[in-house]
Amino acid sequence: MTISSLLTQRLRAAVADLAPDAQPQVSAASDSRFGDYQTNVAMVLAKALRGNPRQLAQQIIGKLDVADLCETPEIAGAGFINLRLRPEAVAARFAELASDERLGVPRPERVKTIVVDFSSPNVAKPMHVGHIRSTILGDALARIAEFIGHRTVRDNHIGDWGKQFGMLLVGWKTILDQDALARDPIAELERVYKTINGAIQDEKAGAPGETPMGRAVSEELLKLQSGDAENLGIWREMIRLSQAQFDSVYGQLGVRFDFTHGESFYNEWLAAVIASLRERDIATASEGALCVFSDRSGKPEDDPFLIKDQDGWRDNPAMVQKSDGAANYTTTDLATLEYRMKTWSPDEIVYVTDGRQQLHFRQLFAVFRRWHPELAGSVRLAHVWFGSILGADGKPFKTRTGETIRLSDLLDEAEERALKLVSEKNPELPEEERREIARIVGLGAVKYADLLPNRQSDYVFSWDKMLSFQGNTAPYLQYSYVRIRSIFRKLDEPFATPARIELTEAAELGLAKKLFHFGDVLPQVLDDYRPNVLANYLFELANTFHSFYEACPVLKAEGATRANRLALCEVTGRVLQRGLGLLGIEAPERM
Ligand code: ARG
Repeated sequence: MTISSLLTQRLRAAVADLAPDAQPQVSAASDSRFGDYQTNVAMVLAKALRGNPRQLAQQIIGKLDVADLCETPEIAGAGFINLRLRPEAVAARFAELASDERLGVPRPERVKTIVVDFSSPNVAKPMHVGHIRSTILGDALARIAEFIGHRTVRDNHIGDWGKQFGMLLVGWKTILDQDALARDPIAELERVYKTINGAIQDEKAGAPGETPMGRAVSEELLKLQSGDAENLGIWREMIRLSQAQFDSVYGQLGVRFDFTHGESFYNEWLAAVIASLRERDIATASEGALCVFSDRSGKPEDDPFLIKDQDGWRDNPAMVQKSDGAANYTTTDLATLEYRMKTWSPDEIVYVTDGRQQLHFRQLFAVFRRWHPELAGSVRLAHVWFGSILGADGKPFKTRTGETIRLSDLLDEAEERALKLVSEKNPELPEEERREIARIVGLGAVKYADLLPNRQSDYVFSWDKMLSFQGNTAPYLQYSYVRIRSIFRKLDEPFATPARIELTEAAELGLAKKLFHFGDVLPQVLDDYRPNVLANYLFELANTFHSFYEACPVLKAEGATRANRLALCEVTGRVLQRGLGLLGIEAPERM
């Protein structure tokens, strides 16, 4: 149990008579001048009981049994109760942490099954920077859930079905350049797609209505959908070529999946989904299509099937079958959701995509709740959405010529830029080692820059900022870890945690207390899917470590003091390494 949970337990016991139903919390203090932990319970209860908060605080303190852990509690401001840990309690707790493989992270009360739907690029299109956020965020969330002790299912819902294959098939049969395909399959598929798409647009501009090219595309698509062997073969080849390129990016990023059930995987169930929605009167015919409308059961503001315009609220239905009889993205996602529920009985399903899909997921979840109330009750469905990556000009991040940036090019550039920096700092290291460090630093910088901002805000992509060794960056955190490792390389004897730990200096105590927070931070990250909370914690920990290291000599200290300080360094190193690892970022031994 973390210290904050332990103190929370004690606090609840203390207020049990006063307010049996209250669930007050003790949390880490925001400013250490006021103690280490605090609670506003007295202010909250005073409102309900119409009492004086400071008096109530005094009364609660009288019952609060924390003498084994804390100095005498203090009342501050309007009625905050401030708690300061006693140095012996800090040392004892730190000794426990030092021998704990989980670094103070509590086991979950209940092990959950969490499906993480992330990355999910589209076949025959290069993965672009938009997919980077999904891949990096989703991977970090899955790693954190796994470390806490949950069971995760990592599912890559690739876009391998849909109208684009009509154009791709026409292009494949008429204008494919085999040499270009062998060199860079996705680039060639993209060229083919764009050329055919462009031709259709030109034809349409000349003569509205169906055009020869448009007709060819529809015919090829229909053949694919009805199982034509040749088209299926070409389609499979396009998937194979795309997957190979996706896999190389995943390899470079160190990201893995348990399943890659693309959209096409669900084709066999689509007709049944549509029939079932119709049968249960959830979907109704509308202008030839099949749509789900609002059931008017909630507030219009919360209703994803209503939209407001100048005349008031009007329908904004979710289409589940197009007028030509085809299923769409929503139908596929409904089949996917049903499949996941039946296959894994998950407690949570987390979808990581950009913010433009918010309406899609609100509607999807709402349709599912009406369609399968018996399944929907037991699962938390979460759309974990994120903002855009912007260029220095504040517009969506593009190459100088205005093309979308390919993820693989971006990652290669990160490693190259990092190699320059590493070579400047360590010209003496052999090239192979410099390259390995540069790989770790370059990829770490890109990932960290992506995870650090609040995920719902846009952020400006800046090589200089993310690769800086100063400030809240991956290189800074990696360097902090390296600094700690270098201390241990200087030891003559192997390090062993001392049997008894004593901490006296403020900087020693401060660092130990910062380390205790790791166990509070990780569950918080998972509660609302915010890896930035972990990133910020690691930055604060690194800063706290540097202040400690300035105030307290380690190698120059002697005897027990030296051993205690080494233990602080060792645990800090492990928390930094583990924390970065949970963000998908490696920590080099030297740099
Ligand atoms: N392929 C989609 C895209 O690139 C993302 C799919 C997300 N997952 C889902 N179950 N809809 O935008």
